[in-house]
Amino acid sequence: MFDLSGKTALVTGAGSGIGAAIAETFARAHARVFVTDHNKATAGATIDRIRQANGEAELLMLEVTSEGECRAAAEQVNANAGHLDILVNNAGVGHVGTMLQTDGADLDRLYAMNVRGVFNVTRAFLPGMIARRSGVIINMASIGGLVGIRDRIAYCVSKSAVVGLTRCMALDHALDGVRVNCICPGRVETPFVKARLREYPDAEAAYREMTASQPVGRMGRPDEIAAAALYLASDEAAFVTGAALTIDGGWSAG
Ligand SMILES: NC(=O)c1ccc[n+]([C@@H]2O[C@H](COP(=O)([O-])OP(=O)(O)OC[C@H]3O[C@@H](n4cnc5c(N)ncnc54)[C@H](O)[C@@H]3O)[C@@H](O)[C@H]2O)c1
Repeated sequence: MFDLSGKTALVTGAGSGIGAAIAETFARAHARVFVTDHNKATAGATIDRIRQANGEAELLMLEVTSEGECRAAAEQVNANAGHLDILVNNAGVGHVGTMLQTDGADLDRLYAMNVRGVFNVTRAFLPGMIARRSGVIINMASIGGLVGIRDRIAYCVSKSAVVGLTRCMALDHALDGVRVNCICPGRVETPFVKARLREYPDAEAAYREMTASQPVGRMGRPDEIAAAALYLASDEAAFVTGAALTIDGGWSAG
C-alpha cells in the first residue's frame, strides 16, 4: 500500500464526504494531516475518528474564500510542521440549474467557492513548495469539468476552470518539483449529493437518474476517491502531473 510516512498533508473541506475520507486515508497511510473546514463540529468529528485509529491530525479552521485565512493557515502550518508536502483542494459546493435557472449571483458564488477557493489556498502554500522544490497539489474537480451535465451550468463552468487551472499549474511548476493533478469523480454518495437531491421535486426519481448515469449502476463511495488521492499523493506517482483522473463508474466512457 502507498505510504505517506514523514509527510504533512492539508485537506480542505475535510469535515464531510470525500474530504473526510481523504484525511482519514492519508492518516492511515501515516501522514500528519491538517484537517480543515469552515465547519468546526464536522472537522472535529473527522479528527476524532483519525485519533481513535491512532492517526495524527490537527484541526485548522479555514474558510477557503478568505485570502487572509488562507495566508494565516500557511503561516500556522509552517510554524507547527515546518512545511507542507501535500495540499488537497477538496472543498466545493454544487448548484442545480440550466442557463435560465441560474442567475449571475449563483455563478459568482460557485466561482468564488470552487475556483477562487482553490486559487486562494494554492497561492498561500505554493511558495513554500517551490522553495523546497517539492510538493504535491491535488484538486477536486468533477466529471462535470470534462463533460456537460444537464441542469448544472454553474457547477460545470466552475469545475472546468479547476481542470484548466490544474493543467496550467502542472506545466508552470513541473521543473519546480511541484506536481499538480486533479480528480474528476462521477457521483459519489455524500452529504453534497443528498443536498442536491433535496432540490428536486421528486428526489427518488432524481436518485435513480443519478445512479443510471454511471454504467456500473451505482454511485461511488468517498473511500474510492480517497484511494486515488492517496496514489497521486504518493512517491509512486512521481511521473504523474497535469492529469485529470476520472473515477466515475464509466460515465465519461459513453
Ligand atoms: N459527491 C459527488 O458526487 C462529487 C462529484 C464530483 C465532485 N465532487 C467534489 O468533491 C468535493 C467534495 O464533495 P463532497 O461530496 O464530499 O461534499 P460535502 O458537502 O459532503 O463536503 C464538503 C465539505 O466542504 C466544506 N466547505 C464548503 N464550503 C467551504 C468553504 N467555503 N470553506 C471551507 N470549507 C468548506 C463543507 O463544510 C463540507 O465539510 C467538492 O469539491 C465537490 O464539488 C463531489
